[in-house]
Amino acid sequence: MEDLRYSPETLVFGADYNPDQWSKETWQEDIRLMKVAHVNLVTLPVFGWAQIEPREGFFEFDWLDEILELLHKNGINFNLATATATPPAWLVRKFPEILPVDFNGVRLEYGSRQSYCPSSPIFKEYTRKLASKMAERYGRHPGLKFWHISNEYGDHVSRCYCPSSSSDFRDWLSAKYATVDAINQAWETKVWGQRYSHMDEIEPPRRSMGPNNPSQLLDFERFSSDAMIELFLAEREVLRSITPNIPVTTNFMSICREIDYAKLASLEDLVTDDAYPDPSDPRHHIIASLNYSMMRSLKKDRPWLLLEQAPSAVSWRNVNVPKAPGQMRLMSYHALAHGSDGVMFFQWRQARSGTERFHSSMLGHTGEDSRIFREVSALGEELSQVGEIVGSLVKSKIGFLVDWDSRWAMRAEESLPSLAYDYMTQLLSWYEALFDINAQVDCVFVTEEFDKYETIFVPTLMMCDVATSRKLEKFVASGGKLVVGPFSGVVDANNGIHPGGGIFQNLLKATVEEPWPLASGENQKISIGEKTYLANTWTELLTSDADEVIAEYASGPLVGNPAVTLSNFGDGAAVYISCVLEKSALQSIFSTVLRVPSTPEHFAEFVTRSNANFDYEFVLNHSPEIVSLRVNRGFDILANREIAGGLRDLSGYGVIILKRARESASERQ
Ligand code: GAL
Repeated sequence: MEDLRYSPETLVFGADYNPDQWSKETWQEDIRLMKVAHVNLVTLPVFGWAQIEPREGFFEFDWLDEILELLHKNGINFNLATATATPPAWLVRKFPEILPVDFNGVRLEYGSRQSYCPSSPIFKEYTRKLASKMAERYGRHPGLKFWHISNEYGDHVSRCYCPSSSSDFRDWLSAKYATVDAINQAWETKVWGQRYSHMDEIEPPRRSMGPNNPSQLLDFERFSSDAMIELFLAEREVLRSITPNIPVTTNFMSICREIDYAKLASLEDLVTDDAYPDPSDPRHHIIASLNYSMMRSLKKDRPWLLLEQAPSAVSWRNVNVPKAPGQMRLMSYHALAHGSDGVMFFQWRQARSGTERFHSSMLGHTGEDSRIFREVSALGEELSQVGEIVGSLVKSKIGFLVDWDSRWAMRAEESLPSLAYDYMTQLLSWYEALFDINAQVDCVFVTEEFDKYETIFVPTLMMCDVATSRKLEKFVASGGKLVVGPFSGVVDANNGIHPGGGIFQNLLKATVEEPWPLASGENQKISIGEKTYLANTWTELLTSDADEVIAEYASGPLVGNPAVTLSNFGDGAAVYISCVLEKSALQSIFSTVLRVPSTPEHFAEFVTRSNANFDYEFVLNHSPEIVSLRVNRGFDILANREIAGGLRDLSGYGVIILKRARESASERQ
């Protein structure tokens, strides 16, 4: 695929725009206020299919022509959605089989959005037709900056169990395994007497009388992710053939489990994300930070773009807590710090009716004289002054492994030693411990080479195939430091157990004899030197001939057994942590591995974006309280003044961006 890039000249600022919900007088008002707010890019018409094609083959583009002209005349660019996110009612009524079917076999009714089965050949064909109409009509418009295919694949419907999905699933299996015997072998169908004699006997893992076959479940996860990627590719192909020079994206839903984003990102030109951290969650900044680290890591050679965030409250949680004054600004800089080339919102003008009438927007029901509009406009103004950061990137020598196969293998429907040991919870707890010792990480994926990293953290990797384990061995043998968490290397690519106690026995010099999950609320002690810490949720009975036992179990049935080990392997070393640990224990181990001081919990984050000439160090205070921080010297590009290094007070939700010429970049004093 040719390498197309979206390289804006300045930071992008804007929102989803739904002009079809408003009168033409309101459009004039929108343009006036967009200018006040410094909006330079809008997204439209995401849910516009039924307005564009109200009857089959009958297109009404006039309204879209007119608003695009108006935007362009006023210096506002746009990314055009192909408008395929929701099929019109006429299409669904003509072909009811487009509607998705859930796990229980229930066909879902029209009346919300995303009402399609990702494997429907009819739906796919109609999306291609619409994408081609859009590309032919607007592909040469000077205001068009990139294509936005569909919207948030996998939101609402990510797994469909209808006959089209069954048939595609079988095709997918045939392509992967060639014969039914190979499937029987991979899925070990002798267990519980599930042997198949013919491909046609295989169905998706719908609700059954008991637990479904784990290998079938894992393949169905992979297939379903691929089905959405295929749908994306069908539209991308049309757009590429008509507009070969316009970059293509589809907006992601942050760290989502539904789609393998590493795979999907490799097929688009620009990574865009919709991020909705919950301000009422005391750890929302940690979750956001992990998410943004992932977004910037999906394409490491270019910036990404925050395509949606809420100006204040959303409307889809049980309780939708608004962003406090100043918090939206800080949260926007958070994404910018991690390499986003702009900040966009859902949405420009708050809807008067419909599901999202209580969702905050840049311009709310009370108009321009409102807190939110004042805050977003001030941010727009401020960002227009700091466009020099555009194009710069965040780089790290520390990798943090994220893997969809393992996440899917640990799904709740599985028969596992403990469903309380959750993939995302484990990832977040390791990420949080690294965050607290100011270790910025890149996310890495098993398809990548690992050699540009000095240290790689693997919070958990239940599924590990031979190729990945060899890559990890090579990484350590050539001097890398590896830290592996519990329940890793347990199953192969087919979700069958690696015999003998895991695939990492050689590398870690440790064998897991028995997983030893802890009951709800149970803790056990581990000792590291003189200190004791608590393990919760998960422990393991390890047999180890490691070079060092870093920690032992100090209570419970595993007392005296190794809990954390270190093995020297070639020129490097691998640490294995066999249990879920409280944060202070992880911090102590991680800071020793990284040779950095262990720091008490804090709410500050330091991230550096760099280009050829300058480093831009973002210092972010995620708490509402003033914090006293040790900062480097540098030119604060937001305050427009030089700052001496040393202790400084940073206001609640405060941010500074310290610019330094690259050659003089100094260590934090
Ligand atoms: C996103 C979606 C938008 C809007 C937003 C509200 O998931 O892409 O269309 O619904 O949520 O928070």
